[in-house]
Amino acid sequence: MKLRYFSHSAFQITTDSGKRILIDPFLDGNPTSTVKAADVDAEFIILTHAHGDHIGDAFSIAKRCNSLFICVNELADYCASKGFNAHNMHIGGGHTFDFGHVKFTIAHHGSMTPDNQYAGEPSGVVLSIDGKKLYHTGDTGLFYDMKLIGEMNELDYMLLPIGDNFTMGITDAVKAVELANPKIAIPMHYNTFPVINADPQLFKKKVELIGKNCKIMEFGQEIDL
Ligand code: NI
Ligand code: MN
Repeated sequence: MKLRYFSHSAFQITTDSGKRILIDPFLDGNPTSTVKAADVDAEFIILTHAHGDHIGDAFSIAKRCNSLFICVNELADYCASKGFNAHNMHIGGGHTFDFGHVKFTIAHHGSMTPDNQYAGEPSGVVLSIDGKKLYHTGDTGLFYDMKLIGEMNELDYMLLPIGDNFTMGITDAVKAVELANPKIAIPMHYNTFPVINADPQLFKKKVELIGKNCKIMEFGQEIDL
C-alpha cells in the first residue's frame, strides 16, 4: 500500500489492489496542502471527527466520486443526512471492507460539525490493510489506553498529532509513541496554523532518544508502506 500525506491530518491510502481511502481530507482551506480537492479521488472516506479541519473537502470529493463515508454512528448519520453513502460504525467496533479492516478507537477531543450539529464521539482508527497495521489517532490528548491499542494490534505505523493547543504536543506525543509502541511514528497536525506550530525534527529526535523510529513525511509526499 501507499500512504500520501497532504499535511494536517489528511492522508490518502492506495491499496495494492488500487482502492483509495482518504482520511480527514482538509485540502482547499488548508494553507499547507499542495493538492486541491478537485484533484483527489477516493472510493472511501474515513472521518475521525466532525471538525472543519477534518471534514474539510470530504463532501465535494464524495459527491464527485460517489465515495462511501466510514465513521462513528452520529457522524455517519450526519453524512447520510447530506445525501451521502455512509457505513455507520462506533468506537471499539471493527468491520472488514473490500480494502481491509477498520476499527474505531477512543480519542479525547470534541466533534461538533461546522454547522453546529452533534456528531457523536471523536475517534481514532486502526486500519489493517495489505498486511500492515496503521493507527491514525485523530485529534486527541494523550491517554494511557494507547498502550492497550498497541498491545492488541502490534502497530506498524502510528500517525499522531504533535501541534499542541488542540491536541497532544511533542512531549505528550513522545509518551504516546512509547505507550503504543509502533514500528514507525509519523507526526501530523502541526504547522497548519501558527497556533499549532511545532518542530517535527525535535519530535523525531525525542522519539529516537526513547529507542523508537520516526518518519517525517513532507507535505504532499507519498511513500510505500
Ligand atoms: Ni478537531
Ligand atoms: Mn484538528
